[in-house]
Amino acid sequence: MTGSRRGRAVRFRFDGQVFEAPAGVSVAGGLLANGIRSWRVSRITGAPRGLFCGIGTCFDCLVDVNESAAVRACLTPLSEGDEVRTSSSLGGSSRG
Ligand code: FES
Repeated sequence: MTGSRRGRAVRFRFDGQVFEAPAGVSVAGGLLANGIRSWRVSRITGAPRGLFCGIGTCFDCLVDVNESAAVRACLTPLSEGDEVRTSSSLGGSSRG
C-alpha cells in the first residue's frame, strides 16, 4: 500500500525509560500502547490518573513533554525523541 504509515514507529522516553509506539499516535496512545495506564496522581486523593475523556476536556491526562509542562496527553502528538515525564503540575481536573 503506497503512502501507508503502517509499521512505522517512534521512540520516546517516559520517566527516563525508552519506549516505542506506532507513528501518528498521541502521547496518551503511545503510553497506552506500552501498557502504561496512569502517569500522574490526584492532587486530592493520590489516586492514579491517566486517560479519562480522551477528547481534551477533563485534564486528567496531564503530562510533561519536552520543555512543556502539563500538556494534555490525549491531544499532544507523539514525536520521535520526545521526553515524556510524569506531570509535575497539580492539574486542572475538577476530579482531582
Ligand atoms: S483524557 Fe481528558 S483531557 Fe485528556
